[in-house]
Amino acid sequence: MQQRPCLREFPILKTERLMLRSLAPEDQAGVFAIYSNPEVTRFCDVATLANQQQASVLIQVFQAEVEKDGGIRWAITQKGSPRLIGLCGVGWYRHNASALLSYDLNQDYWNRGIMTEAVQAVVRYVFDQAGTNRITATTTVDNTASMHVLLHAGFQEEGILREWGLWKGEFKDLRCFSLLRKDTPAAGPSNRSAAGLANSCGGQESGDCTRPLASAKAGFAANPAAPCGWDGTRPPTLIH
Ligand SMILES: CC(C)(COP(=O)(O)OP(=O)(O)OC[C@H]1O[C@@H](n2cnc3c(N)ncnc32)[C@H](O)[C@@H]1OP(=O)(O)O)[C@@H](O)C(=O)NCCC(=O)NCCS
Repeated sequence: MQQRPCLREFPILKTERLMLRSLAPEDQAGVFAIYSNPEVTRFCDVATLANQQQASVLIQVFQAEVEKDGGIRWAITQKGSPRLIGLCGVGWYRHNASALLSYDLNQDYWNRGIMTEAVQAVVRYVFDQAGTNRITATTTVDNTASMHVLLHAGFQEEGILREWGLWKGEFKDLRCFSLLRKDTPAAGPSNRSAAGLANSCGGQESGDCTRPLASAKAGFAANPAAPCGWDGTRPPTLIH
């Protein structure tokens, strides 16, 4: 079945300090500042950008994903400033009502709780407005900052996906995390059937996403008994 774009209005998310909005061509410099930094690209499947034109192409790739309703990617800004300082988004896996989360932040803004705040807003949107049942996220095994972000947002570690990543010609072990709707009591019950979930749009509403999640600020101990639940498909086009 052919998919049609269904985000009639891009969902703007607001938190205490941040506004998450749609990406625009004017974000080229902000995107370049993030992905021209090897300290960022060592943790994601994006080649280090060499020039602004490549940033422009990356924005077009991200926007195309939104337009074909393959996912949503927000530009993270600080309230009162239009400057993009980070990106956070999800790709939809409609066959099992799940989403794959990814994010990257300009290094100048690290360790201020910004991505934790952004991810909590995105998680709330994904459960409340998009009717998703499961959010998956992966990190390289050495990405402590990203693991902290996920654990603060209530994700559980499921185990290591051995050499699951093929990034820039190199296989990477990836640590798999998940958050289920039922893990977040604050998330409202889905008003969609399972079949409806599998075909749901991203939703159109914006909102205040400052409601606290049931946060599991747990340690990093993996639960080896927990299966990863990974469905064996690779992200379609989202760059992680
Ligand atoms: C991962 C990333 C998005 C985190 O963004 P951020 O806004 O700095 O994250 P936060 O400030 O919300 O939280 C970072 C946490 O990691 C901790 N942390 C950061 N660097 C760390 C390190 N080297 N060792 C241990 N802990 C570290 C911080 O102390 C904080 O934890 P705390 O709140 O428990 O103290 C950012 O570091 C980044 O963009 N990294 C490069 C790209 C990347 O890794 N993307 C994600 C791919 S999975």
